[in-house]
Amino acid sequence: MSAGLGGDWRAEVLELGAEIRAGLEEPQGKRLPPRFLYDDLGSALFEAITLLPEYGLSRADERILRAHAQEIARLAPAPSLVAELGSGSGKKTRPLLEALAARRALRYLPIDISPAALGRCRIEMDRLAAVRFEPIAAEFLEGLREATARRRGAEPLLVLFLGSTIGNFERPADERFLRAVRRSLAPGDALLLGTDLLKPVPTLLAAYDDALGVTAAFDLNLLVRLNREFDADFDLSAFAHEARWNAGARRIEMHLVARRAESVTLTGLELRVHFRAGESLWTESSHKYAPEEPAELARRAGFRCAARWQDREWPFAESLLVAS
Ligand code: TRP
Repeated sequence: MSAGLGGDWRAEVLELGAEIRAGLEEPQGKRLPPRFLYDDLGSALFEAITLLPEYGLSRADERILRAHAQEIARLAPAPSLVAELGSGSGKKTRPLLEALAARRALRYLPIDISPAALGRCRIEMDRLAAVRFEPIAAEFLEGLREATARRRGAEPLLVLFLGSTIGNFERPADERFLRAVRRSLAPGDALLLGTDLLKPVPTLLAAYDDALGVTAAFDLNLLVRLNREFDADFDLSAFAHEARWNAGARRIEMHLVARRAESVTLTGLELRVHFRAGESLWTESSHKYAPEEPAELARRAGFRCAARWQDREWPFAESLLVAS
């Protein structure tokens, strides 16, 4: 990986390996680190998810950004520096950057762990003449630290955290994450936060288990990665993707469930793992928010909510938060 931050990729692989081992040996139930979903193939599969008829989330996000780009540009505290956490291809971000760049020259710093996603993002932004493209291949907080280090003088910063990626943190890790973002910011800097809202359970289950099987492929790609990068021998046909609604925790959970008893060797980790028939490997959660929840969360993390937009078709909210 070309992190370009002086980060030692060997150390990163060791750390990831240790996390994977701990997850697979977790007595409470097996799990994997969610960021492991986003290698180059995983990022491409996620781009495909955003186009699925069942997955209305990204289109809602995009509709809000498109419809209110001018207003967001007017209300955001005159940013000349925009950093996006988990930009992916940046497709839904472009209208907002256009509106912001119409006011002043802009530097756009997309932060993503997939270099291939940043490559697609560069192509997407090529047509924006007034925007300087400065990609950062890194994890969120490391990338944000790098972004703030590139700040010139007191230039205001706008951070974008779209697509309800915040919902992939457990409660209260979501609040801890927002607090960590806040610590990187100066008073008056802003955060545009996208949050997927509670909606009927059948709609949610379909969004995370689509008829084409793209989400299943996205989930199963974790095993492909373990086979490739950690010399494992997972038989993909022995695992089924399952989306579950956890009503108490208000989240969709993604699981890979063993169809039969299965033993797997991860040679690269010198690890052998046994799955009972029906045992699950929990791969990701997507928490859903009550309408008033994002603003409360933000307030506890040191922001005030300056404005909020909600999509009419697919309950999703965009909140403009200003660092207090
Ligand atoms: N941030 C996205 C979400 O929670 C990520 C996502 C979409 C996802 N579909 C998924 C993660 C399926 C894991 C599995 O909606």
